[in-house]
Amino acid sequence: MGKIKIDKKTLENLKNWFSNYVQSFTHEDKYFQENIALKEKHTLQVCKEILNLGEQLGLNENERRLSEVIALFHDIGRFEQYAKYKTYVDGKSENHAELGVKILKENQVLNMFNKSIQTLILRTILYHNRLSIPEGETNTCLFFSKLLRDADKLDIWRVVTDYYNQNNGERNGILELGLPDTAGFSDKVYQDMLNKRIVDVKYLKNLNDFKLLQVGWIFDINFVPTFHCIKTRHYIKKIRQVLPESEKIETIFGVIQVYLDEKTSTREEIR
Ligand SMILES: [Fe+2]
Repeated sequence: MGKIKIDKKTLENLKNWFSNYVQSFTHEDKYFQENIALKEKHTLQVCKEILNLGEQLGLNENERRLSEVIALFHDIGRFEQYAKYKTYVDGKSENHAELGVKILKENQVLNMFNKSIQTLILRTILYHNRLSIPEGETNTCLFFSKLLRDADKLDIWRVVTDYYNQNNGERNGILELGLPDTAGFSDKVYQDMLNKRIVDVKYLKNLNDFKLLQVGWIFDINFVPTFHCIKTRHYIKKIRQVLPESEKIETIFGVIQVYLDEKTSTREEIR
C-alpha cells in the first residue's frame, strides 16, 4: 500500500465538497430534512469509525486519509436516491452504491487523484453494499472494502439500536424498510443464522426478520477491533431485547455469543 498519497488539504477540500453537496438537498419539509440529516450524520460517524479502526490496525497517515475519503463518499448516492424516490430501499429504487459512483464521476470529485486511487475508491464504494466482496480484487482493494464494510455496520448498529430502544414509541418506516411489525420470524432467516450465513434482504417478511438480519451482520465482520466495539457497545444485547422470547431466538443468540467470544479472545495478529 506504499504508493497512497493524500494530503491534508485535499481531504479538507473533499469534506467541503461533501458538505456543500448535502446542503443542496435542503428541503422545507421536516420529514424529508430529517431523513437527509440521518444519512449525513451516518456518513460523518462512519468517518469516525473508520479512523478509529484504522488507527487500531496501524494504518499510516495517508492510508487513514484514504479510508476517510472512502467513508465520506460511500453513501453519497443516498441523497439523490431519497430526493428522487423517497426511499432508502435499493430494491424499490436503484442501487445507491452505483448511483454514488455515477455522481462522483459526473461531478469529477476525485479528479485530483491518479487513476489507480480513483479506481480503488470507486470500487470500495461499489462493493460496500454487496452481499459479499467479489473475488479477484487486489489486496489493497480487499482491505479497504473490508474496512469500510466494518465501519459502516458499526454505525448502522448505532442507528438501529438507538431507534429500537427509544421510548417515544414513534416509528419511522424509513428505518424499517416498510416491513410490518408482526409476531414471529421466518424459518429461512432462522436457518441462515444458524449456518452463520448473511441473510438476504429479499427473504425478510417482518421487522423481527430484519432485526435478526442485523444481528447476523456479525458473520460479515472482518477485523478484531470491530468485534471489540460490538462487544463493549452491547449492540447484540440491545437488539435481542427487542425480539420476542423463543427457543429458536435463544439458540441463535447462543451461536452469536460463542462466535463473538471466539473473535474477541483471539491471540492472532490484530490485522
Ligand atoms: Fe453507510
